[in-house]
Amino acid sequence: MKILVFEKEEHLDAYVGEYICHFIRNHSQPVIGFATGSTPLGVYCYFIDNYQAQKVSFRQVKAFNLDEYVGLTPSHPRSFASAMKNELFSHIDILPENINALDGSKEDMIQECQRYESLIDANPIDIQILGIGMDGHIAYNEPGSPLDGACHVVDLHQESIESSLDYGFDHIEDVPTQGVTQGIGTIMKAKQLIMMAKGEKKADLVKRMIYGEVTSDFPSSIIQRHPNVIVCLDRSAASQLKEEDYEKR
Ligand code: PGA
Repeated sequence: MKILVFEKEEHLDAYVGEYICHFIRNHSQPVIGFATGSTPLGVYCYFIDNYQAQKVSFRQVKAFNLDEYVGLTPSHPRSFASAMKNELFSHIDILPENINALDGSKEDMIQECQRYESLIDANPIDIQILGIGMDGHIAYNEPGSPLDGACHVVDLHQESIESSLDYGFDHIEDVPTQGVTQGIGTIMKAKQLIMMAKGEKKADLVKRMIYGEVTSDFPSSIIQRHPNVIVCLDRSAASQLKEEDYEKR
């Protein structure tokens, strides 16, 4: 596992942004996994700026979103599909037919999960962007999720429901209580993971993710078992790590 710690947030965003742009320029059919949440927003701005400066095109990119709320249609303003559209996809030249996501409004969610898992198997993800949730989740794999799980519906934990208030919900009662997510096993099939974390509030979580036991009680710890991971942190998020374990940027 490569751990990079950046002095400035904009350097972190530019590193991850350029790493992925470079990959896209050098591959004919790149498949990128996107994450919602606040952490990758600077990377998405980097993509938009570089697209506008004609330094990268997303026409050949296939996109897979990580997770979604159950009960919201993709066009609902608070869905993760809408968030990805507003924050990135509507500002770049990605083709709508190449944007893939779990639809949390389907009547048969088991079938929907099987559809998405098969689609990912047919289009293996080259680079998956990840963040870490306040309960240690990756995507919506909450503590207790099986380490080899496929796409599935989950009951959201209280921390995840409360964090959703940062994503535009006005009242906690408006936040869906279930999510649908790529499983940990699905995520581990990606050829490369880029895990990003920023801020003091993530420092303990990052420490446990890197040094702690690999356990379904703390789902992000699974990245220790992936053969190709880059962890990109700002100084605050890295404050509980030993200096000899990371590279300073
Ligand atoms: P955040 O969310 O980027 O908004 O902190 C991360 C996550 O819940 O995966």
